[in-house]
Amino acid sequence: MDLNIRLMEKISYYIFALVALMLLSLQMPFFAVSSTSLATDQSALLALTTHITLDPYLILTRNWTNVSCVCNWIGVTCNSRHHRVVALNISGMGLVGTIPPQLGNLSFLVSPDLRS
Ligand SMILES: *[C@@H]1O[C@H](CO)[C@@H](O)[C@H](O)[C@H]1NC(C)=O
Ligand SMILES: *[C@@H]1O[C@H](CO)[C@@H](O)[C@H](O)[C@H]1NC(C)=O
Ligand SMILES: *[C@@H]1O[C@H](CO)[C@@H](O)[C@H](O)[C@H]1NC(C)=O
Ligand SMILES: *[C@@H]1O[C@H](CO)[C@@H](O)[C@H](O)[C@H]1NC(C)=O
Repeated sequence: MDLNIRLMEKISYYIFALVALMLLSLQMPFFAVSSTSLATDQSALLALTTHITLDPYLILTRNWTNVSCVCNWIGVTCNSRHHRVVALNISGMGLVGTIPPQLGNLSFLVSPDLRS
């Protein structure tokens, strides 16, 4: 009887460990993918800065640096759910330049505002 209870305890412990392990292995690739993707967004916007030929108020020059997360950059909005860049508003900053093809890598971007 006592042996049976101990056996049950052991089995339920193993089931618990197995479920925890399965949940962990499901989570891991998710985090890996989301962090690479935000890095993709950041490199796309850094590519944009290299195509800016005039930044009269030094807004991007001073603020868009890899010191801080791309989500904290002026004019950049990330969504909290996917942690991806969803809006880009660099209008009215007096910027001159071209739009690099890397901007197409902002796969979650729904609101680009590049006027003026
Ligand atoms: C960039 O601008 C944002 C918003 O104004 C500010 O919170 C952040 O500290 C700035 N980052 C740098 C590196 O200046
Ligand atoms: C930031 O970018 C510069 C130049 O591209 C690079 O040398 C530096 O290692 C980067 N720093 C980080 C923390 O990624
Ligand atoms: C972008 O910013 C400008 C200036 O702050 C503002 O007038 C404009 O409405 C913004 N665009 C969007 C799409 O939010
Ligand atoms: C982003 O876009 C450029 C040009 O369209 C491409 O060469 C590059 O492989 C893309 N991917 C990443 C992760 O930067």
